[in-house]
Amino acid sequence: MFTHDLGGGLELRLLEHRHAPELLEAVRANAAQLDRFLNIARELHDLERARQRIQVALDRFAAGHGLEAGIWFEGHLIGTVALHGGGRTRIEVGYWLTEPFQGRGIATRAAAAVTDHAFGGLGLHRVEMRCAVDNVRSRAVPERLGFRLEGILRGSYQVGDRFIDEALYALTADAWVAPSERRL
Ligand SMILES: CC(C)(COP(=O)(O)OP(=O)(O)OC[C@H]1O[C@@H](n2cnc3c(N)ncnc32)[C@H](O)[C@@H]1OP(=O)(O)O)[C@@H](O)C(=O)NCCC(=O)NCCS
Repeated sequence: MFTHDLGGGLELRLLEHRHAPELLEAVRANAAQLDRFLNIARELHDLERARQRIQVALDRFAAGHGLEAGIWFEGHLIGTVALHGGGRTRIEVGYWLTEPFQGRGIATRAAAAVTDHAFGGLGLHRVEMRCAVDNVRSRAVPERLGFRLEGILRGSYQVGDRFIDEALYALTADAWVAPSERRL
């Protein structure tokens, strides 16, 4: 089981089947913003899809290939943070927050916690974050954490019917400064 206390009533905890209704509700309530950069709201159109997504993530976690944690504030789901798309040595971080909880540094702290898990717990060598080039708020997350911009991947991600360019940020284990050693 992966749990992580972010302080101030915030916690990361693996999504489980029983969280499917809350996941669906949070995604639906934020669909307008999510649809600009992610496919999650398009894909999770019912409870069954939400359960399937959670199962896929739980299987990935059991196999040691990543995780999808809910970001919880005082017991309410306010977003997710995930490690996904990895290989034997690298993995990607993904995140979203419900709109009322943006602008407080929560995504940055959540991304730092799972990056730390990727390097420490999973023993990986490289962590990546890919953000749409015009997703300024998302790009600020890896930039705050010292990830380096490695380039622009043209048309590398399909969101709905659009192909978008992504900024690729990455960090290797030797360059990582753990959250406990920095002020976040
Ligand atoms: C991407 C997303 C999670 C970023 O949210 P965010 O609230 O800007 O990010 P954080 O939670 O890290 O908060 C950073 C903000 O809090 C402020 N902040 C306050 N306390 C802070 C702290 N201790 N540490 C860092 N930032 C802090 C920062 O100044 C920043 O505000 P600013 O943008 O006005 O300068 C959000 O925009 C989102 O969910 N978008 C839709 C989905 C999406 O695009 N996901 C990413 C796909 S790649």
